[in-house]
Amino acid sequence: MENKKIIIANWKIYLNMPDSIEAAANLKKQSKKIKEGKEVVICPSVTSLAEVAKVLKGSIYSLGSQDCFWEERGAYTSCISPLDLRQIGCRYVIIGHSERRKNFLETDEMVHKKVRIALGNHLTPIVCVGEDYDERRSGQRDYVIIKQVTDALKGINVTKDDELIVAYEPVWAISGSGGGIKAEPEEVKYVTQVIRQVLIDLFDGEIVENNLKIIYGGSVDSKSVSAYTNLLYVSGVLVGSASIKPESFIKLINNS
Ligand code: PGA
Repeated sequence: MENKKIIIANWKIYLNMPDSIEAAANLKKQSKKIKEGKEVVICPSVTSLAEVAKVLKGSIYSLGSQDCFWEERGAYTSCISPLDLRQIGCRYVIIGHSERRKNFLETDEMVHKKVRIALGNHLTPIVCVGEDYDERRSGQRDYVIIKQVTDALKGINVTKDDELIVAYEPVWAISGSGGGIKAEPEEVKYVTQVIRQVLIDLFDGEIVENNLKIIYGGSVDSKSVSAYTNLLYVSGVLVGSASIKPESFIKLINNS
């Protein structure tokens, strides 16, 4: 895995299709402003993916989906085929975002199946884990994190040709759906160390070094980003609301 900082924009459904196309075109136009050593991934709404793919084709930006299903084809109404994502031009897929876990009751078992099929389709999974406010207050943070990472990844075969990213996203820190409370970098440092230890327990040492990355997400903006990306085990960020406006998002990328 390349040693670049990875900045992932999760546009959720903040933007409609014309606005997504416009934002993507704007980012593309300004690509020269982006410093070396950054891998930037744009995850537009599912209904905008194909159009945004056309806009970003041949640019410095990679494309990602905000979700996928655990089967490629079949009788699964409204699901997103990982095969189609690959064909559209996606390289990445977010899996197990807390908004999916909360609103659609996604379980660790579902997350596991999605990770497996994503890798099978040469997509890089961005596996989101994170405790909520009450879990943290009742001292269960570490337990929740260890369980989510283990259940998602135990028994998953990550080869030397694969990439996999674990995103630590405490629910209480996510703007909009969570508490929007800024996490202290010290706490993120501690939890990402816990995640790394789980990865060391689950995978071969060389795979952990070369093919797995840990990133942070939750109310990250252009001012706070470097406090997280300077941490030893944090290789990048997953950004929601601060990724919508191209100008400030580019600032965030360059500050990472
Ligand atoms: P936020 O969202 O940056 O708006 O807090 C992050 C996320 O949900 O991935």
